[in-house]
Amino acid sequence: MATNFIGKPKNRVDGRDKVTGTAKYTAEFHRPGLLHGVVVSGTIAKGRIKNIDTTAALRLEGVVEVFTHINTPKQAWLDLSYKDMDAPPGEPFRPLHNDKIQFNMQPVALVVAETLELAQYAATLVKVEYEVEEHRTKLADHLEDAIDGDGFRAGFVPPKSQGNFKKAFSNSEVQLDVEYFHGAEHHNPMEMHAATVFYEEDGSLTIYDKTQGVKNSQHYISMVFGLSKKKVRVLSPFVGGAFGSALRPQYQLFLATLAALELKRSVKVELTRPQMFSFGHRPITIQNLKLGASPDGKLKAISHKAFSETSRFEKYVENVVNWAAKLYDCDNIEQVYKLVRLDMYTPLDMRAPGGATGVYALESAMDELSYKLKMDPMELRLKNYSEEDKSEGKPFSTKTLRECFQKGAAKFGWEKRNPQPRSMKKGHDLIGWGMATGVWDAMQVPARAKAEFSADGTLTVGSATADIGTGTYTIMTQIAAETLGLPLEKVKANLGDSDLPFAFIEGGSSTAASVGSAVQKVCEKIAKKLLKEAGKIKDSPFKGANPEEVIFADEMITDKINPSISMSFAEIMESRELEKINKKYMLLPNMLKQNKYSRNTHSAVFAEVKVDEDLGTIKVNRIVSAIDGGRILNLKTAHSQILGGVVWGISMAVHEDSFMDHTFGRFINHDLSKYHISVNADMPEIDVVFVEEPDMVVSSVGAKGIGEIGMVGVAAAIGNAVFHATGKRVRSLPITQEKAM
Ligand code: MOS
Repeated sequence: MATNFIGKPKNRVDGRDKVTGTAKYTAEFHRPGLLHGVVVSGTIAKGRIKNIDTTAALRLEGVVEVFTHINTPKQAWLDLSYKDMDAPPGEPFRPLHNDKIQFNMQPVALVVAETLELAQYAATLVKVEYEVEEHRTKLADHLEDAIDGDGFRAGFVPPKSQGNFKKAFSNSEVQLDVEYFHGAEHHNPMEMHAATVFYEEDGSLTIYDKTQGVKNSQHYISMVFGLSKKKVRVLSPFVGGAFGSALRPQYQLFLATLAALELKRSVKVELTRPQMFSFGHRPITIQNLKLGASPDGKLKAISHKAFSETSRFEKYVENVVNWAAKLYDCDNIEQVYKLVRLDMYTPLDMRAPGGATGVYALESAMDELSYKLKMDPMELRLKNYSEEDKSEGKPFSTKTLRECFQKGAAKFGWEKRNPQPRSMKKGHDLIGWGMATGVWDAMQVPARAKAEFSADGTLTVGSATADIGTGTYTIMTQIAAETLGLPLEKVKANLGDSDLPFAFIEGGSSTAASVGSAVQKVCEKIAKKLLKEAGKIKDSPFKGANPEEVIFADEMITDKINPSISMSFAEIMESRELEKINKKYMLLPNMLKQNKYSRNTHSAVFAEVKVDEDLGTIKVNRIVSAIDGGRILNLKTAHSQILGGVVWGISMAVHEDSFMDHTFGRFINHDLSKYHISVNADMPEIDVVFVEEPDMVVSSVGAKGIGEIGMVGVAAAIGNAVFHATGKRVRSLPITQEKAM
């Protein structure tokens, strides 16, 4: 494969638009006469609305309507079996559907007015009386009520056990039995959730929605309002971060659409940051890890059990305990996953859902075991390195984790580590070095793409996928340019528009492997067509030529054996009197082939922390992250992806914690002054190493998808470093000052 663009550190094609403000986000779209909707949030966790008084709000001039469960028309939710692409088992939440309150900050009214300020003021005048019921929101208090974490959900694999854990554990010379905990987290993208719905003259809707999948939003609106998809166009050209928070249609979309349809006017609804804390979070888990090993460090038995949160109306399942059997060569593994129904909104996928939390506990426990064994923690991992996925009994499509350990350790200087805790002091600071492994899925899902090549030499490719800041525009452009042999400037990529060919929600680190491959394949079809047309030209040297016999580069077709034989695309288009060549492609993953393998990304993470001996303040000093992510499509955007993941891991380790006041069943630190996120000043030196091996099982572009792997393992590496620094094992995230003391 020629590599003019793929793998190179190319700038984002949308970079300039983003930094100059040219790129427009959902709430920035405007038309004259646009109405503003403001959401009134409920204040109890459970019960019903006894009375809702909107008269004071409606009395204000310029307030157009107040929607509540009483006047919301019942033609909505025609199909009660409807589920969005990311829905877990259960019944999705229906805003303003009835008087029932299922979670705190549930939307109870939408005030629509001529101006935003008026709507905001009027919203304060809506008076709600509740009949309060007793709620339960604290996971730890209800473990005896746990139900099985099962049911069908895209990407969810019910955990399996193998061998005989009990027996093997009791026969293990070295045993570890520990409990891990981490707090809840919220996504907090820069851009708030918003929907701007333009009501067109013919009654159709043009909707800008903050979403990770325009087709998902379009399907949702069409189903719940009983509208033909032809009447609903959803756009989301730019997304200011999402991290999973926009995988599911959120209530701003329903409310803005409801108001637009009822009022036959254009309506915008933008949520506030506190309201962002009302529709899903990374759920708390309480995890128990039991590890049994022989004195030489061979794992004999692993048990990983987790309790997690879910709502009353849906069963949110994610892969928390599925990782040990992938990472470690151990015959006896028990994996148990339980849920507790609580009076809260359904938890929501958040970057590396399940993996970030499950691997945190597993890799922290492995570190504890290494001290019990008096063994280097990396050596313990290598001793138990899995050459195949034991839970599936399958080989890995590709796995370069061993090299990740080696290269990461070399870069970090791991061999200089003194294994003794509290041994690496520097003045007032205790220095600690820790490491951990990361693992995540490498998925490919169906995707369609289209391409149009014009006589002026430009190519436009399109797919209804999303770019949530990940670089989708850029890799689509690179892959297209590479495949057809065009300069980057002559390629334009379109996405975030439901008029484009189908793509799934951008999630699960699947987009590069899925949409990327579809773009590659559709461009191959254009290339083939160009060659065919070239063959039709009088006295053509390419008569009957196969694509394998030629090269598509520099806007020309060139004979592979005799490079002096070539023909420019312009010449072909002109001679054949062609204006455009249009092609479509539908990528269906070859599951027969894929299912023969376990498909994963991996990482080796090394962390250095310094802990003030007297104050317990923790500073993450240095991170080295070595990544097994298949072929890297763009070194620059990929590097940024991993940096972002590492930042998330640091933030998870020492900062983020959504604190719920259980008296009210409400997250109370719901803004950025109280919900702490790692900022620039907290950032250490971060080194990213890619250990590439193209994975041709996962995708024809060789990529495995790296949106999430960058964060997995980071929190464990930091926690392990804190132990090495202080000699104190903190088994709960975030590791704050008082816990480290
Ligand atoms: Mo991601 S949590 O799959 O957007």
